[in-house]
Amino acid sequence: MLSKRLVDAINDQINYELESSYLYLSMSAYAEATDYLGSAAFFKKQAQEEVGHAMKFFGFLNETGNRVLLAGIKGPEVEFEGFGDLYRKALEHEKTVTARIHNLVDIAAEDKSHEASSFLRWYVDEQVEEEATFNMIVGKLKFVEGSKQGEYLLDKEIGSRA
Ligand SMILES: [Fe+2]
Ligand SMILES: [Fe+2]
Repeated sequence: MLSKRLVDAINDQINYELESSYLYLSMSAYAEATDYLGSAAFFKKQAQEEVGHAMKFFGFLNETGNRVLLAGIKGPEVEFEGFGDLYRKALEHEKTVTARIHNLVDIAAEDKSHEASSFLRWYVDEQVEEEATFNMIVGKLKFVEGSKQGEYLLDKEIGSRA
C-alpha cells in the first residue's frame, strides 16, 4: 500500500528523472557543438538511462494500482563553461538525485510500505554507481584541465564507455 504522499513524491521523481534526461541531452548537444564527441556520446547514453529510470517508476506506480500524473519538464541549462564544467555539474546533479532517492526511501520506511522499500533499493544502488562514475571523471580533470591534448584524450576515454 502506497500513501498519497509517497505516490506524489514518486510522481515528482518521474518528472525529475525526465528533467535529468533533458539536462544530459543538453550537455550532449553542447559537447557535440564544441567537438567533445566522446562526451557527446556519453551524455546521450546517460540521457537514455534517465528515461529508463523514469519508466521504472512509471511501471511501479501502474503495477501498484496508482495513478501516474505527468507534469511539465523544466528547461535545462544550455550553456556550459567547457569540458570540465559539464562533469562537475553532472556530479552535483547526481548528488541531488541521490538525496531525493534517499528521501523516498525515508518516506517508504515511515509509511511502512514494504513494496516501495524493496523497489527503491535498486535506485539506491544505481545512485552509488552514478556518483562513482562522475566522481571518477571529475577526479581525472585535474590531470587534463588547461591542456587541450589532455582533454582530447580524456574525452576519448569517456566516449569509449558509451
Ligand atoms: Fe536517474
Ligand atoms: Fe543519473
